[in-house]
Amino acid sequence: MRIRILLSAFIATLLCLLAGLPTAHAESPPVGRAEIPAPTPNGLVATPPLGWNDWYSFYCEVNEQLILETADAMVSSGMRAAGYEYVNLDDCWSAQERNQDGELVGDPVKFPHGIKWLADQVHARGLKLGIYNDVGTETCAKYPGGYQHYTQDAKTFAGWGIDFVKVDWCNIPYADFPGMTKKEIATKLYGEYAAALANSGRRIVFSICTFEEVLNAWEWAPTLGNMWRTSTDYAANWPSILHNIDRQADLARYAGPGHWNDPDILQVGVTNGKLTHEQEKAHFATWAMLAAPLLAGNDLRTMTEERRQILTNTDLLAIDQDPLGHGASRISQNAGSDGRPAAEVWARPLANGDVAVLLLNRGNVPISIGTTSDAVGLPRALAYSAKDVWNGTTTQLGRQITAEVPATAAKVFRISARDANRVPPLTTASVTGRPLPDTTVVAVGAGDSVELTSTVTNSGRQGITDVRARLELPDGWAATALTSSSATILRGGDSMTTRWKVQAPAAQQPGDLAIGVAAEYRWHEQILRSAPSSTTVTIAEPPAAGVSRLEHLPRVFGQTGWGSLGIDSDYQAKPLVVDGIVHPHGFWAHATSTLAWYAPDCSRLTAGFGLADTAGAGRGEVRFTVHADGSEIFSSAQLHGGDPLGVVDVALPPGTKSVALIADGGSDVNYDHAVWTAPQLTCG
Ligand code: GLA
Repeated sequence: MRIRILLSAFIATLLCLLAGLPTAHAESPPVGRAEIPAPTPNGLVATPPLGWNDWYSFYCEVNEQLILETADAMVSSGMRAAGYEYVNLDDCWSAQERNQDGELVGDPVKFPHGIKWLADQVHARGLKLGIYNDVGTETCAKYPGGYQHYTQDAKTFAGWGIDFVKVDWCNIPYADFPGMTKKEIATKLYGEYAAALANSGRRIVFSICTFEEVLNAWEWAPTLGNMWRTSTDYAANWPSILHNIDRQADLARYAGPGHWNDPDILQVGVTNGKLTHEQEKAHFATWAMLAAPLLAGNDLRTMTEERRQILTNTDLLAIDQDPLGHGASRISQNAGSDGRPAAEVWARPLANGDVAVLLLNRGNVPISIGTTSDAVGLPRALAYSAKDVWNGTTTQLGRQITAEVPATAAKVFRISARDANRVPPLTTASVTGRPLPDTTVVAVGAGDSVELTSTVTNSGRQGITDVRARLELPDGWAATALTSSSATILRGGDSMTTRWKVQAPAAQQPGDLAIGVAAEYRWHEQILRSAPSSTTVTIAEPPAAGVSRLEHLPRVFGQTGWGSLGIDSDYQAKPLVVDGIVHPHGFWAHATSTLAWYAPDCSRLTAGFGLADTAGAGRGEVRFTVHADGSEIFSSAQLHGGDPLGVVDVALPPGTKSVALIADGGSDVNYDHAVWTAPQLTCG
């Protein structure tokens, strides 16, 4: 028996390696099952607060109409029914001066009926009102701060019926605390504020806004406040979201019922944001996994249905609000093909014994992310049932937990050791070409064919039978299976791969098209279909016979690491100068950059490369590579600013369909001013 277990573990590892699945290089111990810690003294927020905050969508443009309309929208959108209750004012709500008694007052123009009236209105809608203050002399936006008024302000807020106060960390009078460190001052001031709230006569949620990361608030704030910021202010873009996630990788143990790590207000739907739908879903899912306070930051009055569904996802809210209050930890992090962290697994134990698992793909290409039931802390069992929080389906998993995760996206499963054999195995299908590195681009010309590979995986324990992979093609396209596209049985943990020749019609116009795949199979008496998934093919025109300058050919992909792509000049329209020599033709392509072209029937690529003199001598660090389809066919040494121009002159392997010029940056993106000079293709 033992030998069989060892043997199957060995085979599983071998299969992982063969299948190119990421193997963990940083496994932390399984998530522990903690006793439910005692709530903080004010007895509030036994689960993380749910609500809204005006800052990221309105900044100082706040008034009573906005708050009332937002409260109404919280009710009519179904958010109140989903558990949201706090409507929170941020900075800029008060008058510029305290009144003659030294009390804070609402800005009479923005809040003509006063804050107490507003609190009554919000309460009448079954909701709670939050407000904002600062431990320093002024708020961050230079309104009156609370310094030397904590007791008075706490009483004012209590008298108005305020339910939540966020207290900021701006304009601290450091000179009043000689010899004390920032952390000591923060502990003292927030401690005094906590005491003021405790003696205010009303139970008020205390949100400690320690946006300065050096304060490590989790080390001292849990005994003072109900929540504390773990990161600096951020924005609605993917790197910002990842920064805040990274800050929380090891902080779960500091939080629990009544006291929460706060990775900041949600960016879902925030104005001027640059998050895709998948990124907004991943952002919300991660915050729920972290047991974070969920304060929506968007305009609830105009929110799209798509965003309403994200914010009211019942399964994610149940994970966030789980009574155990044990936030997720990062179980593993693996690098993608470019060496940067890509695949992450986060897990958190839940009060009923289930475990919530988040598979996060940080990178730009879809990947398969895997872990095991042991690693995420599930009890030993032969199989598990797993609910996908986004599509609501429950399927069976074996001890290996693996799923395809789209680019910059996250999957979340709520996994249980109960009822596993009553649900069908998790069966996924995916399709891909041989894309250019760090892209999903597969280029094909009208009338030309391309080879794609589909994979159908059974991630359950039981087998599935009569399995068939089917491609879903646009009108006029045809596909021939080059290898078998069906299997009589696919056992738990097994995959079936099929190579396809896919033919584009001669009349196909240039542009992007989706090619999908789905698997049909039998499980017991049921005929089932996997969730569809697809890849994008880019239809492009081939270069003319002879020598073509790449600057003049349409690119199928182009991405620069910083700023915009420069053609025959740098990003500021200044000449391309490498090692003192001006180059009239080429690209300014700040690393890390990828430029790609469709290049069938081409035999040779030539180009010069180096760092622009704007980098400065010895600064920057770039490696220049050329790829034909999925393979590297040329690589330079690491070059720095001031190095002489390098030259590449390579033959393209027969059958090449596309070429890419890649400038790979060093660890520091500054000064990676990559330049390609006079790049040319010989074709026909
Ligand atoms: C700081 C906080 C923000 C917001 C602003 C208001 O930057 O971190 O959340 O409250 O102040 O000025």
